Amino acid sequence: MPVSLSGQSVIVAGASSGIGRATAALLARAGCRVMASARRAGRLEQLRDELAREGRDIGIFAADAGDCAAMEALAAATVERFGRIDILVYATGNNVPDRSLERLTPKIWDWMVSVNLSGAYYLTQAVIPGMRAQGGGHLLYVSSISSKKPDVSGAAYQASKRGLNALAHAIRIEERQKGIRTTVINPGLVDTEILDKRPVRPDPELLAKALQPEDVAEVILDMLQLHPRAVVTDLDLMPTWIE
Ligand SMILES: NC(=O)c1ccc[n+]([C@@H]2O[C@H](COP(=O)([O-])OP(=O)(O)OC[C@H]3O[C@@H](n4cnc5c(N)ncnc54)[C@H](OP(=O)(O)O)[C@@H]3O)[C@@H](O)[C@H]2O)c1
Repeated sequence: MPVSLSGQSVIVAGASSGIGRATAALLARAGCRVMASARRAGRLEQLRDELAREGRDIGIFAADAGDCAAMEALAAATVERFGRIDILVYATGNNVPDRSLERLTPKIWDWMVSVNLSGAYYLTQAVIPGMRAQGGGHLLYVSSISSKKPDVSGAAYQASKRGLNALAHAIRIEERQKGIRTTVINPGLVDTEILDKRPVRPDPELLAKALQPEDVAEVILDMLQLHPRAVVTDLDLMPTWIE
């Protein structure tokens, strides 16, 4: 029997598009109090307005995940609005067309690691003291199947995603006795805007077989609805027809 998430306070980072947007909307419809964050304020406002038309009131907070002070401010604004934070979904992620080693620069490397990995650490450090004090919480990180299987997504992307999985597992081992659950989900191809940053966008035939962001959001909801005694630690979610 799924546990109701009604009234749970959630930060969804990376909520302006794709998986994060679908997750923020689904969690709001499941009764969560949602704080949606990303850089593009206009996209966040659109999401807020769309949900408001359904009678769902969410908070929005524009912030760059690579900025530690901004991630602390996001956590503080969420506590100020909702009183606590029960769940963090870190769906922030980025990539660049210049991803091959021949084109990668130290500047791109540092930026990719800051967004895909360091931001998750910054935001976790900002939310976890409250979770410890309240005796529980759920941290869920959207990584990638590229964290497990070498591919052509680029060294910076794969290194940062492998790092994200390591971060998630290290947190779980250290924090589980405090009732804090940690989950990392590794999707395969999902039809979202991040694909526009590939050197060549996947052809329509392949995209037709990809996951949709809602597929990932539904799995996230399922994992968050488990009884607090149970946690999915690491889950691969693949499109049926694509390896
Ligand atoms: N699509 C796939 O095939 C696939 C497969 C495996 C894993 N993933 C992972 O899934 C996660 C979600 O990506 P998506 O596929 O849903 O792509 P997406 O639609 O491009 O979403 C990425 C989200 O991250 C946010 N973001 C990017 N850079 C940011 C920054 N510096 N600061 C704050 N927010 C930032 C974006 O918002 P702003 O631009 O408004 O800041 C957006 O909300 C990523 O971690 C991605 O690596 C995707």
